[in-house]
Parts: sequence; C-alpha cells; structure tokens
Amino acid sequence: MLLLCSLLGLLCSVLQAQDVSVSNRRTSNIGEDVTFSCTFSSTDPTVRVTQIMWMKGTAKLAVYNPQHGTYVEDPTHFQMVDQSENSATLKILRIRYTDEGEYLCEVTTFPGGNMKANTSMIVKATPQNSAEANTKVVAGDQEQVVATCNSVNGRPPARITWHATIPGNVSNNMVNNTDGTYTVVSQYLLTPTWTADGMPVTCIINYESTDYPIPLKLSVQYTPVVTIEGFDDNWHLHRNGVYLTCNGKGNPPPTSYIWKTADGSPLPASVRAKDNVLYVDEVDERVNRSFLCEVTNALGSRASRQDVLVREHAMQTQTNAGAIAGGVIGGILVLLLLAAIIFIVIKRGSLQSKKDRGTYNQKPRAFGTNKQSEQFTYQDDGELDKPLKGGVPMRDSGLSPSLGDEDYDEEEEEEERMKYKVLEDDEEEERFNEVGPMLQLRPHHPIDSYLDDDMESQTDGSIISRTAVYV
Ligand SMILES: *[C@@H]1O[C@H](CO)[C@@H](O)[C@H](O)[C@H]1NC(C)=O
Ligand SMILES: *[C@@H]1O[C@H](CO)[C@@H](O)[C@H](O)[C@H]1NC(C)=O
Repeated sequence: MLLLCSLLGLLCSVLQAQDVSVSNRRTSNIGEDVTFSCTFSSTDPTVRVTQIMWMKGTAKLAVYNPQHGTYVEDPTHFQMVDQSENSATLKILRIRYTDEGEYLCEVTTFPGGNMKANTSMIVKATPQNSAEANTKVVAGDQEQVVATCNSVNGRPPARITWHATIPGNVSNNMVNNTDGTYTVVSQYLLTPTWTADGMPVTCIINYESTDYPIPLKLSVQYTPVVTIEGFDDNWHLHRNGVYLTCNGKGNPPPTSYIWKTADGSPLPASVRAKDNVLYVDEVDERVNRSFLCEVTNALGSRASRQDVLVREHAMQTQTNAGAIAGGVIGGILVLLLLAAIIFIVIKRGSLQSKKDRGTYNQKPRAFGTNKQSEQFTYQDDGELDKPLKGGVPMRDSGLSPSLGDEDYDEEEEEEERMKYKVLEDDEEEERFNEVGPMLQLRPHHPIDSYLDDDMESQTDGSIISRTAVYV
C-alpha cells in the first residue's frame, strides 16, 4: 500500500484531500437577511469535525460544536442554522452597512487540526429617488430654487445632474446617514422670468452606472401678461361685427378680464364687453379711442392698451391678396415698358445701320487706342434673340455710329451709349450685359464680302468671333 501510494503519490494526495468551502462573496442590500454556508469535506472517514466557527475579522460571531451545541455572540443579529456533522451556516439578520467586510469560517478537526476559508460581503442600498418643481416660485430678479431632486438613503451615493433648456445653477448637497447610506439633494436655481413657466427640466440620478431621469416642468408664478388682438387698422364707420380679444396668460390662471377706456370714461354704448372679448356691433365715432384690458390673477393685475382709429371709409388695399395683386399688375406693367423700350431701340438700330452703310464708311474712329481700328457700326441682323456670349472684350471695338447732324437728340443719345461702350470695367460690362439693349457689332468695311468672314479682326491684332453679341 505504501509502495502504491509512493508510486501514485499524486493520486493518493488527491484521494486524501480535505477542504473547507464557503459561499461566494456577495453584494446585498441593507435590511436583507444573508446566509453564508461553511462545509468541511474530507476523503478520510476517520477525520472528525469538532468545531465550526464564523468570524468577521478577528471578532467571533458564532460557534458550532457537534457535542456542545451552538454559541452566537449577538443573537439579535446572527444565527447559526443548518448545522450538521461537517457544516454550519451563518445567518445575518437585516444586514447593516457595518456588516460589509471579510468573513472567515474556521473548521477544527480531530485529528487534522484547523482549516479556514473566507468570503466577503458588500452592502448596498437602493436610494429612493424623487424630484419636483418648486410651485411656489414667483417671477422676480432674485435667484431661486426652481426644482429639487433627491436621492435618499443610497449606498453608494448617487450622482445627480440636470438637463435643462433654460440655463441655471446647480447646488448639490450630500448627507452621510448614520446607517451608512447617503442622501443627495440637488437644487436647480435660476432667476425666474415668466417665460420659464412650464419649461422642461430633467433631473438625472445616476446610481450604480444607471441613469434614472425624472422629467419636470418648471412652475413660475407671474401676474398676467396681456395682449389684445383683433384690430386690423381698418375699422371704418358702419363696419359690422368687429371685436377685440384680450389674451391673458398667467400663473395661476387669470380669474377676471375687465375692459375699460383709456381715459377712464365709461365704455361707450356701442361696445359690449363679455369676458375677454370686446364686441363692436357697428363701428361709430364713439369707438374712436383707446381701450384697456385688465387681467387679474391671484398675484395681481396687468393691463394692455389698444388704440383704435376709426376711419371714415374702408381702406382700399387692406388685404395681403390686394397687395399681391397690385404687385403682379405692377410687374406686368414694368415688363411691357421694357419690351416697348427694347422694341424702339432695335428699330432705331436697324434704321441707323441702314443709314451708316451709305454715309459713314470713310471716317475712321478709335476708342481707347491709338492704333488704326476697324470700323464698326450697329447692325440689326435679326439675331437679337440669340443668347449672349460673354467674355468678349469691349474696349477695342471702335464703334463708329454714323449720325446725321440734323438729328441732334439722336446723336446725344448715341454719344451717351458710346460712353458706356468704352468702359473698361468688367463689372460695368456685366451690368450692361444684363440691362442694355442687345446690338450686334459688325465690321463696317468697304468690301461687303468681309462681312461673310466669321471672324473679326480687332484693333489690338487679335481676332474674335463675329457672332459675339455686344450689349
Ligand atoms: C461622507 O462620506 C463620504 C464618502 O464616504 C466621505 O468622503 C465624506 O468625508 C463623508 N462626510 C462626512 C461629513 O462624514
Ligand atoms: C378718429 O380720431 C382721429 C384723431 O384721433 C381723427 O383723425 C379721425 O378723423 C377720427 N375718426 C372719425 C371717424 O371721426
């Protein structure tokens, strides 16, 4: 047998193994009951358990002896349960945060001696979370607590943040409770204006890496804010069925609407006040005055004023539709005018070019250059509807309109146009491209066949396409 064991040493030691096993470490909530089992096991049936003892640190909690029974240090808090020949379970009643820590089970055997095993416990407490808007806030210029968020009796402590559309300040406070829990209180502060009333704000309580959002609506009390609508600035004598509506917004809600005249005289007989509406069955001179609407809630009263101007007669173009129609008609008129101008210009150009061919061929003129230039003249060749070709330089086109001395007005006009023609500024060119009358330039040359050439020779020696359109 010894030989066998020495040969199979590993196997023999496993067969003779003895062990103490305890419950795994755990996380528990305050107030729960928790049990930790402790079991001795051995492959050697001759080994006897004489004592099982649970300790926390060095403090003895409970001892079980198969012969002498059980001893518990604090029976109100600990029990020893499920005792057997080789196991005993510690039960902790209504755990407290002080129960957090390491637990040790020590087993005494005969003749084997002592063996130990340990485990541990973390104590937590789920907080009670709540949040509320402060309904007592009154609009003013002092910073006030408008909402409060609480995370009570949590362990570990919660963290509180806010999410709000209205910027404010946050004040956090944490209390270490005697039971090992923490109470976190977070306040949201701002200077309340009436516009903050009803605005959303969310308190976010983060406990153990989980967010618990609590949405709130702010409450800000304010005396009513008053607006009057219904006056369209076209109240004329004998108009029927007009009325003013008084809109009072307040927190708490308005309780009364009072219509008055601005000068304190009684309401004219031609109006009827009913709650927040002032009816005018038929407009007359007595309505030609200012009215006040006073709105009251629990906090106070505020009034708004509407000046009413009574006209002798209805305004003609009082509606938007009228304005639009007017605009459309105006636009059409402008287009017609433009068309007429273009027509006249084209016609004149056509006449002019006919005149030019006969009379003005021999007279060289150059603009912006001292070189001899090709002679150009206006010519209506019926291609005015062609799209414009951009990028053609203007400065070197030696325009040469021929003008009869007898037509002074026309000459003046033509000269004016020539000034534009010689402008070198690109921007100016563009502008005239957009608005000017379209005229095509052709070289005026004694040899008519030259006209058939597709290219035009420029004064600077370059050649440009003859079909370029100048404007
Ligand atoms: C409260 O507990 C926290 C975390 O345990 C600690 O940092 C803080 O000092 C304690 N505050 C007081 C007043 O005991
Ligand atoms: C209303 O009063 C204004 C002056 O406040 C006056 O110009 C106007 O003519 C009055 N309208 C009528 C219809 O009397």
